[in-house]
Amino acid sequence: MLAKHENSIEARRQAIQAALDSSKSTAERNRLGQFATPNALAVQIARYVQSIAGHHLRMVRFADPAIGTGSFYSAALAVFGSGRMESAVGVELDAGFCNAARDLWAQAGLDVVQGDFTRIVASPRCPVSPNLILTNPPYVRHHHIDREDKERLQALAYQMAGVKVNGLAGLYVYFVLLATEWMKDGGYAAWLVPSEFMDVNYGAALKRYLTDRVTLIRAHRFDPEDVQFGDALVSSVVLVFRKTAPPPGHVVEFTFGGTILESHAKASIPLEQAHKSRKWTVYPSHARNDRRMSKDDQGAAMGDLFRIQRGIATGSNKFFVLERHEAESRGFPERHLRPILPSPRFLKAIVIDGDQDGYPLIKPQLCVIDCDLPEAILEVRHPALWKYLQTAEALGIKDGYLVGKRSPWYKQEQRNPAPFLCTYMGRGSDQKQPFRFIWNRSQAIGTNLYLMLYPKNGLARMLREHPDRAADVFALLGQVTGYELRGEGRVYGGGLNKIEPSELARISAAAFIERWPGLRSTIQRQGVLFDEASSASGA
Ligand SMILES: C[S@@+](CC[C@H](N)C(=O)[O-])C[C@H]1O[C@@H](n2cnc3c(N)ncnc32)[C@H](O)[C@@H]1O
Repeated sequence: MLAKHENSIEARRQAIQAALDSSKSTAERNRLGQFATPNALAVQIARYVQSIAGHHLRMVRFADPAIGTGSFYSAALAVFGSGRMESAVGVELDAGFCNAARDLWAQAGLDVVQGDFTRIVASPRCPVSPNLILTNPPYVRHHHIDREDKERLQALAYQMAGVKVNGLAGLYVYFVLLATEWMKDGGYAAWLVPSEFMDVNYGAALKRYLTDRVTLIRAHRFDPEDVQFGDALVSSVVLVFRKTAPPPGHVVEFTFGGTILESHAKASIPLEQAHKSRKWTVYPSHARNDRRMSKDDQGAAMGDLFRIQRGIATGSNKFFVLERHEAESRGFPERHLRPILPSPRFLKAIVIDGDQDGYPLIKPQLCVIDCDLPEAILEVRHPALWKYLQTAEALGIKDGYLVGKRSPWYKQEQRNPAPFLCTYMGRGSDQKQPFRFIWNRSQAIGTNLYLMLYPKNGLARMLREHPDRAADVFALLGQVTGYELRGEGRVYGGGLNKIEPSELARISAAAFIERWPGLRSTIQRQGVLFDEASSASGA
């Protein structure tokens, strides 16, 4: 229990935390990764660590590399007692939090160092190694980390921990690696971090580190439906590990729901299995574990978030698709030309920017002839285009099935540009995606060698309100694994894979819901509306 004096510091801390939080916008707090840990949760975590560490932590050298106002220090004092606290250090970037932590805890033995932990840990200013780290590091997403800083962090993680961190990883991944390297051998750590790394490709390096380099004791995932701590824990996990090599036959305890002291479900997973598992959130199996539900077809799928459609079949790309400069030099009217992407074979970039006319900033720029004017009018208004089209007869183009069905025969299927596309066929094994996702920021459409993904439901609304989140959507698409894509698509002789819109639509979108839990209700609401509509119509 907290001594009376510390109890009153904790009360003061909570008031200061609330005041500091309300002085900043949510966007600002997101950018800086400033979401404090509710003290009751910090205490539960500290208690759990104490229960497993036992006599190994007789004297505590505490550290929180992102101390905030010191919720975890408060918890450590409450659980371990000031008598066992040999040293305590907190690092904090933000001057406001730093001063607050100093005012609150300096007298109670906390040394607060102001600065960027990821720099301090690699500098001569680095404080003495702790044997206990309890923390909730900044979650700062990768696109808020500028390029130079990301390169510095990647180089440092490699230098200190020998780990190559994927550029899509958030700041917390670097914190875990660097702080663990800093920690004393045999020390204990508890980290409250986002659970996304457990499933996505960019988390693979951290998962390997957790299984190979330390002894992972526990991974407790909170139930997203649980409102115990408000929105704070929607997709968080507490990782508890000891900095020692894992003993032979080690098993990791994966728990879900409830609290870390009393979870709702538990699975003991042999380290070997955890090491091999592509997704950690499937453990433990539990009715409320959405990872299971999505496997049972009850979870959100890509088709709930995107309308997915093949690109256009022109009937003869050779005839209808030509280079923009050629079409211009032939005097074809701009309004009957549409920008179109080249075949995936020739598209090297995966992020396509557009010029002021909406053409992709790639070479060569291509356009497709798409005109709905009747021939007689076309001949008068746009003789150059009409003349070109006259050559189709001799080339046998008009005999084609698709072309023969259309009226006029040079009018294409209508598609709006889609912000995301997926190539329709490709090769790849294991983790490698056989298909490529493209982020299309131009006005180009795609041929039927692409699937076009149009955001719908809550995702469309969210992107209208927060266009900057498109980068995250694209990153999540990039994390759909090769296994999932091949699993839904089909494989042809020689290892060629193809995927149809309905197959891509079946792939789990759980990662999107985990990232933006609000999307779930927009999908469910559709279901409810549909049920209401069908019962109203007597269906
Ligand atoms: C998620 S908050 C958690 C604070 C505290 N550990 C807690 O559990 O309540 C993360 C804290 O890290 C700080 N921070 C962000 N970037 C940092 C950095 N590079 N070095 C040190 N602290 C940082 C933020 O200002 C914020 O106070």
